[in-house]
Amino acid sequence: MGNVVDDFITRVYDVVRSNRDGGVADYIPELAAVTPDGFGIAVATGDGHVYEVGDTSVPFTIQSISKPFTYALALTDRGVDGVAEKVDVEPSGEPFNEISLDPDTERPRNPMINAGAITAASLVAGAGPAEQFERIRDLYSRCAGRPLVLDDAVYDSEARTGHRNRAIGYMLRSFGVITDDPDDVVDVYFRQCSIEVTCRDLALMAATLANNGVNPLTRDRVLNPALVERVLSVMTTCGMYDAAGEWVTEVGMPAKSGVGGGVLAVLPGQLGIAVYSPRLDRHGNSVRGVQACRELSRDLELHFLHVTRAARSSIRARYSVAEAPSRTRRTEAEQQSLEAFGNRGRVYELHGDLLFTGAETAVREIDAERADLEVVVVDVRRVDDVSGVARRMIELLRADLAANGCRTALVDPDGLFGHASSSLSPDDPHGRVFADPDSATRWCEDVLLSRHCGAGRQPDSIELEQHPLLADLTTVQFSRLTDDLEYRTFARGETIVRRGDREPGIFLILSGRVSTSVTTKTGTVQRISTLSAGMSFGEMATLLGTKILNDVRADTAVTVAVLTPERLARLTTEAPEIRSALIERLAAVAYGQVEMLLRTIEGRGRL
Ligand code: DON
Repeated sequence: MGNVVDDFITRVYDVVRSNRDGGVADYIPELAAVTPDGFGIAVATGDGHVYEVGDTSVPFTIQSISKPFTYALALTDRGVDGVAEKVDVEPSGEPFNEISLDPDTERPRNPMINAGAITAASLVAGAGPAEQFERIRDLYSRCAGRPLVLDDAVYDSEARTGHRNRAIGYMLRSFGVITDDPDDVVDVYFRQCSIEVTCRDLALMAATLANNGVNPLTRDRVLNPALVERVLSVMTTCGMYDAAGEWVTEVGMPAKSGVGGGVLAVLPGQLGIAVYSPRLDRHGNSVRGVQACRELSRDLELHFLHVTRAARSSIRARYSVAEAPSRTRRTEAEQQSLEAFGNRGRVYELHGDLLFTGAETAVREIDAERADLEVVVVDVRRVDDVSGVARRMIELLRADLAANGCRTALVDPDGLFGHASSSLSPDDPHGRVFADPDSATRWCEDVLLSRHCGAGRQPDSIELEQHPLLADLTTVQFSRLTDDLEYRTFARGETIVRRGDREPGIFLILSGRVSTSVTTKTGTVQRISTLSAGMSFGEMATLLGTKILNDVRADTAVTVAVLTPERLARLTTEAPEIRSALIERLAAVAYGQVEMLLRTIEGRGRL
């Protein structure tokens, strides 16, 4: 029992099987000896799974399907220009074995017709024909993911009868397109055509081309991606010879056929298809191969020009830091300032694959708002992949904004843009790179506060008597309480209180910054809030006599004054008025926190 994809492919197989049109190639005598009704379909995915129906492990000769692979090897060995001097990339509109050169350039029109393929074989590096052939065989084998061998009988048969190809070889030699002995070159070509493959092999070879030159099963990087692009381009326009136009219209995939009965088709970035069925049409293309590819393309919507949906904006969300503040507790003055100016700091969350068009929408939309912006955060956590040009566009936008006084930061924990989060100093012209959005939002707020909030900013450190929690105490109460407090310091990164600690004590922060966080079941640390001098933690669990619900860690060096549960208990009996003054202040602070959390949820639509 197969899955739904097996069912799709089997349906195509059943529909096409009844077609017995065409005849097997007989101009190479040995090819006439095959079972004409053999039929197999194989589809290899980008992660190397192969769906197979019918005769997918029957060996047959690769024939012209060898041509794109030898062309790829010639490109690898000689470079694009070195090959372009000898073979053009224009569709010929002629049969594959036409004895012709382009009258103007005096070069073969493309590497998919025999004249171009023989030329490509001559360009493969190697000390002689035997070594050239070995390198060709090795490349095909790596694309198929197993060692491929020569079918001696078919090779002998073609070598005995291939006079037309010899004529092409001599023509090429006489025009100086090939410089080696034409018999040797044509012999390498005969051998490459006689390499034995199965339908499954061809599907994996197709998938290697679809996968930018990496064999999806072995993960072997066989070909350079830029060269694969060129090979697929030529397959698109010339792969099906004089039927290329109809093929592109009806099937819409770069492809190559062979008179051995194989057809190979590539859907770039997605999958490779191979069909085996030896009866051929008048162009030398497998009749069922063409029909099966047409059916698959239609059924599975594989045409490479099929647009599944209109391009969507790469910006999935945008909000200002006024709408979605960081989880940092702020003073009254800071909050007011952020309410007034928070709209000038904005976060843009991007998503999907960021290629040119995705970067274009992002750049255009951010740029249109630049007059209102002082700080921009570009959050790329949900971007799956980014192309070179998209990366350049975002970096150029950031540099341009920076040159005009607008600070920028990236949230890029996976380093998609090539910067480690910690590698950039605060003064780096490219701006900051953060691993998490809350730190970026806090930074964004800090930039705005440094520009707009004069008085009333949270100081880096305070004296105990300035701590707001103690504001309602009389002088006597204050000095009574100070006797009960312990001073403690923590280094950056140290855990101050651990989730589950019972009655940890009431911690009054005098200097430095701490963050409260929870660790989710998957092990990620989720920040709840950031606290600094003048704030406190541990009070709820201590007053209620329960366990604390989150971890508290020092983000910087930290000094705290702690009222331990034992001292609190003593205060409760000896000075209950101090306890109630503390609780009143704490209630006010707690209400402020809830309010801030609600605004965060409101702004981001999530916690
Ligand atoms: O050169 C030839 O005639 C054969 N070795 C290969 C031709 C071929 O496969 C044409 N494609 N459909």
